[in-house]
Parts: sequence; structure tokens; C-alpha cells
Amino acid sequence: MDETHRNGAAVRLVLVDAADEVKTWVSWLAVSMGIELVDIEPPSDATGDAVQEVMRSSPAIVVVGLARGAGWALEVVEGVDLIDPGITSIVLGEPGGDLWQRAIRAGARDVIAPDIGEDELRLALERAVAHAHSWPRGTTETDGDVRRGRVVTITSPKGGCGKTFLATNIAYALQSEARGRTVLIDYDLQFGDVAGALGLRPEYTVSHAVQAPADATSVKAFLTTHPSGLYALCAPLNPAEADILEPARLGTLIDTLRQQFDWVIIDSSAGISEANLVAIERSTDVVLMATTDLASISAMRKAVAVLDQIGMTAHRRWYVLNRANARVGLEQVDIERSLGLGVDTAIPSSRAVPIAMNQGIAVMEDDPRSPAARGVRELLQRLSPMIVDREPDGNRGWLQRMRS
Ligand SMILES: Nc1ncnc2c1ncn2[C@@H]1O[C@H](COP(=O)(O)OP(=O)(O)OP(=O)(O)O)[C@@H](O)[C@H]1O
Ligand SMILES: [Mg+2]
Repeated sequence: MDETHRNGAAVRLVLVDAADEVKTWVSWLAVSMGIELVDIEPPSDATGDAVQEVMRSSPAIVVVGLARGAGWALEVVEGVDLIDPGITSIVLGEPGGDLWQRAIRAGARDVIAPDIGEDELRLALERAVAHAHSWPRGTTETDGDVRRGRVVTITSPKGGCGKTFLATNIAYALQSEARGRTVLIDYDLQFGDVAGALGLRPEYTVSHAVQAPADATSVKAFLTTHPSGLYALCAPLNPAEADILEPARLGTLIDTLRQQFDWVIIDSSAGISEANLVAIERSTDVVLMATTDLASISAMRKAVAVLDQIGMTAHRRWYVLNRANARVGLEQVDIERSLGLGVDTAIPSSRAVPIAMNQGIAVMEDDPRSPAARGVRELLQRLSPMIVDREPDGNRGWLQRMRS
């Protein structure tokens, strides 16, 4: 049987880090099934590099062995799944213990023992091929000929949790450290201050962009550039303008920017407004932020319940606790118990944040070694494992030191 993918090309299977006998076995079977096989052995232990190497081969199926341990293999599976959930991943290992649950949670479709018989292996590969055919491949990356970047909305039910701090810094780091084309939308339409936090002087704002025709060339004219290469679409200068911005047009604007950029970062206003729901509906990732006080956690619990009730669950959710070391706040374990879910990143309170924000500089630029900058980098690595775990040189340039 010649296995061809939806677009007519042969199904490509990437085999990562499998033991030699398994390799021979899978290769023989793949060839007999007409599956194109690419065998890779990433030279370093950095999972980000391995994920990158896998993605370069544009696979439909990825089979990861446990030669470097289950932790390593599952990180690779998770990384691949985050970039393209349409890829079918299989872990090659004994499905006993908790491997199966961990693998499924990481995004794998199956766990198969390396020594299962030929018939069963063939069946497993056929299941993977069938799944690869049925999945709408690349909805997060390309949709037909249209490119689609990741849309990350940073939101919180209560105000003042640090959304603008996180959104500006994530956007800055994605552009300058990860070199992904990034646009930041100040979606706090009444009182947004992305411009102040990044030292920008916008000529045009969201108000201008929503009134223009919905095409990529027109929208670019309304963006403000940051020295890092990051683009920002700033909030209206007059809070009254927010009322006349129709949510449907804001949605179209997000769609247009998504075709142009790898990352669209949305700094939302607090609460569950209609405009915020429009952004969440279009998001691949929603970062929910809270601080450690009871009111913030209780509001977060209600907000999560509302999103679930109205069926807004098609995105990945990330829970961020900001100012997590506040002495008067609740403990992280109590918060997790109260929310019934795990916190993905806890960002400590750090003087570096107000110092940088008040100067209009990203903390990641002004003080990349500060605890807050480390927290942001941790979240970035979870959002995109391809981002290298490297802290930029802490020696700030003379210009930054002067500005401090
Ligand atoms: N980790 C932190 N350490 C110290 N200060 C912080 C931290 N995070 C945020 N802040 C400070 O808290 C204040 C509120 O932050 P920010 O403006 O980012 O919140 P927000 O959620 O965007 O608020 P709003 O809901 O009004 O838009 C700012 O003065 C900022 O400097
Ligand atoms: Mg804000």
C-alpha cells in the first residue's frame, strides 16, 4: 500500500533517537508500507535543537525512541505538538508505569513497545497514517496558502496583575531573542499603555487600523516600530474611541496580522469583555494571569469556569502567577489547590519591573538577569521550546546604563 498524504506527497515519518535494532525494524516496515523515512539523531541533548531538526523534515509522523531517557523524548514530543498539533507522535517504549499517561499528556498518540511483533507494529503505523490523513494539518502554521502565526492573548480577570509587563516583555524577547516576526497589539483599548512601557511614540493606533481595509499592506502602515524590530499596534490615544471599535472588526484585524507575523501578542484589558472574547476566540494560546491575593485567585477561578461554560476551550492555556513571592499572599500550593490546576510559571516580584517600565524599556533588555526577566524566559520556553535557554549577556550597553 502506498501511503500518500492529503496533498498527494508520500507520508514522511521521522524517527528520532531509536536504538539500532528498532531502527532496522521500523525502516523495513515503513519502506514496505510506502512511507518515506527520515532517521535523525540530534547531536546535542538540547530538546529545542531536536525539535527544530524534526520540524525541518516536515513530518506527518514522528516516532521518538527512549535512548536519551523518557524525559528527553517527551519534551521533544511536547515541543513538536506545540508547533504543529497536526503531527502524529508515537513514543517507542514499554507502555508500563506512568509512561503512557505522561506521553499522552505531552501530545503523543500512542506508546508502543519496541519489541511488539511485526503485525502490531504495522497496525500502529497504519493507525498513525490514518490519523495523519484525518487531521487538519498545519492549522496553526498554514491554512492552504495562508500563513498563520501563533496568537497569544495575555489576560486576567482583575486589573493590575502585570499583563502589560508580561505582554511587552514576551513580545520583545520573541522578536529580539527568538527572532520570530512579532507584533504586539495593545488591546486595552481605553487605557492601554504599551507605548509608555516600550518608549514608543505612535502616530497611528488601533482606531486607525480597524477603519482601514482589512488587508496586510494597509494594516502595516499603522504599526509603530520598536528598535528591536518588534512591531506594535498601540491603543487609541483617547479612551472615548474604544466605544466605537466594533468587536467584529477587531477580530478581522487580528486575522490580518496573523497572516503577516509569526507571533501576534495581545495585551488585553482586565475582565471578560466582548472584545476580549473576540481575541480569545482567535487565540492559539491564552495566558491567564493572577497575583497571589484571594480576590485575584477567586476571580481567576470564575473566569476559567466561564470560558469552559461558553465553550472557549480550543486554545492552550497557561497559568501565570505574578509577584509570586509576595509575603502577604497565598502560597502557590494553596492557590493550585483552590484553582484545581497547576501554575505554569511563577514570576517573582522584582524592582527591575517598575524601574524598566517607568523608563519605557523592556525588563528583558534593561535587566535580563533580574528574577522577573528569568520568569518571563521560563514562560517563553514553555510557549515555544525552540527558544534557546540562554540568558543574554548581563553587561548592559552603555546606553542602557546611562538611561538607568
Ligand atoms: N513581577 C513584578 N514585580 C514588580 N512589579 C511588578 C511586577 N509585575 C508588575 N509589576 C508592577 O505592577 C504594576 C501593574 O503592572 P501592569 O501595568 O503590567 O499590570 P496590568 O495587568 O497590565 O494592569 P491593567 O489591568 O491596568 O492593564 C506596574 O507598576 C508594574 O511595574
Ligand atoms: Mg495593562
